[in-house]
Amino acid sequence: MKLYLDSANLGHIKEVASWGVLSGVTTNPTLIAKEDPSVDVKERILEIHNIVGGHLSVEVVSMNAEGMIKEAEEICSWFPLATIKVPMCPEGLKAVKELSKRNIPTNVTLIFNPIQALAANNAGASYVSLFMGRLDDIGMNSTEILSDISEIWYAQSLESQIIAASIRNPLHIVSAAKLGVHIATVPYNV
Ligand code: G3P
Repeated sequence: MKLYLDSANLGHIKEVASWGVLSGVTTNPTLIAKEDPSVDVKERILEIHNIVGGHLSVEVVSMNAEGMIKEAEEICSWFPLATIKVPMCPEGLKAVKELSKRNIPTNVTLIFNPIQALAANNAGASYVSLFMGRLDDIGMNSTEILSDISEIWYAQSLESQIIAASIRNPLHIVSAAKLGVHIATVPYNV
């Protein structure tokens, strides 16, 4: 299972990259603003890209497919290997369908159940991100839900990759690895 860092902190990313265990980074607007609310997003994303080189998910903030696609085009003009992080919702699925036609990789985020994961896969997502911590927060068993997704993925030989996201503790990482999940995106403190 590959490990990504869920962070926009350059120091943390540099440190973990130096350990040789880092395959990518996932970001979101909150993580970027947390580091420095006045930061230029493009500048910060390119700084992260220069450190990591590998996978880098950059999230769109538009509310409709048209806006999301426009943002994706802009992000891909910064660096062509960007993965566009799109929220799980009908407009997000529309955007994923269009971006997949253009061979732009997408990471569908804010997935909370197997049906959403399947819908994202079928729309053409390259990655589907299940939010483990947020599920546990509302009294759901995130490991069971991840297990259902993993079972479906292997039964159906689906090609998109599962990301265990919203990781809050080491046991989330262990569960994801045991279930054959492809990637865990982990905050620095964990
Ligand atoms: O990768 C998703 C992550 O940034 C959300 O994590 O801890 O805010 O639920 P959390």
